Amino acid sequence: MLEVSNKATQNLDLAVSYLRSGELVAFPTETVYGLGADARNPDAIQKVFQAKGRPADHPLIVHIADAQQLSEWATRIPASAWLLAASFWPGPLTIILPKHPSVSALITGGQDTIALRIPKHPLTLELLRKFGSGLVGPSANKYGHVSPTLAAHVATDLGDAVAAIVDGGPCAIGIESTIIYLSNQQPVIMRQGAITAAAIEQILQTKVLVNSMPQTSIRTAGGDESHYAPNTPVYLLALNDIIAYAQQQANISVISLHSKPVDLATNIVWQQLPLDPVAYAHDLYANLRAHDQLNNTAILVEQVPLTISWAAINDRLTRASVKK
Ligand code: TXA
Ligand code: MG
Repeated sequence: MLEVSNKATQNLDLAVSYLRSGELVAFPTETVYGLGADARNPDAIQKVFQAKGRPADHPLIVHIADAQQLSEWATRIPASAWLLAASFWPGPLTIILPKHPSVSALITGGQDTIALRIPKHPLTLELLRKFGSGLVGPSANKYGHVSPTLAAHVATDLGDAVAAIVDGGPCAIGIESTIIYLSNQQPVIMRQGAITAAAIEQILQTKVLVNSMPQTSIRTAGGDESHYAPNTPVYLLALNDIIAYAQQQANISVISLHSKPVDLATNIVWQQLPLDPVAYAHDLYANLRAHDQLNNTAILVEQVPLTISWAAINDRLTRASVKK
């Protein structure tokens, strides 16, 4: 059962005082909940890695309240970054830029670039303004696990590690921000999200590459084998294969775009989701977590359409699922 944590709060002054004393505070965003810490405090940053169980070479995103703060964290900022900031911030876009020399190598995993974004959530924007500086904010889940879209999800994964969870209700979008790399000649999307390549191309008037599984040494979004994954194995399958599997196995969960065939056993938990990528993304992680709670032997997820508007969802489902 999901329980409301006694660490959940909307008291931003309290949250700021915890952050100033080097404690961790989870915060809501429009994408997923972040695990916040003072981005200028090395001890606090180290607590983030420790709490998540995240390898030190996986860099963190720094969240800021105002685009003018970009120059405190990045250097050699191209005009394209200002343009994207003006067009999409606050919003689900993370921009990777050359890092400012003052930025701790702990944040960037030793790389010379830094990821920055202004999240779109009124409580967190107010928190960032009151705090007055940047907050590191990886998704507030254990490393490799499903990202949290409710304060209760954060409490389940990291309740003991945080001083407070700013409860901003369910996240509006439900999957992580689009990450764009601007330090090269041609912009590259390194993680797909609600802001599409087409939307960015329209603003920048240039072609954008989509490379969500970079073959470079750069550590980026979910480059590891298993990411965004529940404990129960997830299989991404065509509807026919799901039905064939379900006819032979009991105690499985199904997430489908179709209704349950009438002849299937009653002990198969069948959830039908809407054929609408916005609604699907909104509840995707909450659904995966809820199915995981049932302790079934597998979660079978029906393959979603292979169209642009489903690309970010396809990416997450592929990474959450068992590799064949
Ligand atoms: O929507 C989001 O972006 C959420 C909310 C809380 O803002 N945050 C989030 O953070 O998803 P995280 O740490 O779970 O994912 C950020 C990804 C990581 O996979 C990290 O490797 C990549 O961004 N990243 C961060 N800095 C980078 C850099 N300098 N170069 C390449 N990748 C970077
Ligand atoms: Mg994450």
